[in-house]
Amino acid sequence: MGNTGTFLMLLVSNLFLWENVSSAPINASEAALSDLKDLFDNATVISGKLAKLGTAMRKEFFINSFSSDMFNKFILDLHKSKEKIIKAFNSCHTVPINVPETVEDARKTSFEDFLKMVLHTLLAWKDPLKHLVTELSALPGCPYSILLKAKAIEAKNKDLLEYIVRIISMVNPAVKENEDYPIWTDLDSLQASDKETRLFGLYMFSFCLRMDLETVDSLVNFLQCLLLYDDVCYISQF
Ligand SMILES: *[C@@H]1O[C@H](CO)[C@@H](O)[C@H](O)[C@H]1NC(C)=O
Ligand SMILES: *[C@@H]1O[C@H](CO)[C@@H](O)[C@H](O)[C@H]1NC(C)=O
Repeated sequence: MGNTGTFLMLLVSNLFLWENVSSAPINASEAALSDLKDLFDNATVISGKLAKLGTAMRKEFFINSFSSDMFNKFILDLHKSKEKIIKAFNSCHTVPINVPETVEDARKTSFEDFLKMVLHTLLAWKDPLKHLVTELSALPGCPYSILLKAKAIEAKNKDLLEYIVRIISMVNPAVKENEDYPIWTDLDSLQASDKETRLFGLYMFSFCLRMDLETVDSLVNFLQCLLLYDDVCYISQF
């Protein structure tokens, strides 16, 4: 199961693994690297805010009386067995994106492929987030505080997407912005007239979203680290 802990460990281990590597993670001029670093400076700020918002929205669902009873019932039910938790995790539409979980896999993954994982995850959430905002706006009794967070996440997901598209176009102009990414097909559950079904839809939505936003934040920070570290390597050689 991918989570932030795994990635933080990856980040630290890779700092040491890459110590022996003298070439930059990507083929770019010094000027391009400098532009990339500026883009990453902003991208990491946005990805950090996004991850925080994902967690905050999830928490809000758990404590607000609008959804707290059901959310607490769902989580107790899921935690009755490990199989149920794994099944829930595997039902997230972004599972096919397959972020590496071991250092070995990460080392086999190129900078560009890591970037594509971020791109595909952000693209995979673009439409669902639009639907989330629409459905929450129309939902009687939905607290404004939850709606505001959903709106902020939708906006920041778009902002980060723009940065990642700019970064990718510098790393490899041949990457198409709208190449294959996983499609979300759970609109029915968000629109269900039955309250429990609808809240379970929101439960899974916020569960998967929060996990993916944390993964995206870890990946963006990891890539920035690679860029910065390799620059230090480069300078130390001259
Ligand atoms: C990097 O770019 C140079 C010049 O365009 C090219 O000769 C070289 O093959 C490239 N290296 C890699 C790893 O793509
Ligand atoms: C980063 O964000 C700042 C503040 O919004 C903006 O002025 C700057 O142009 C951005 N940098 C890049 C490289 O887009």
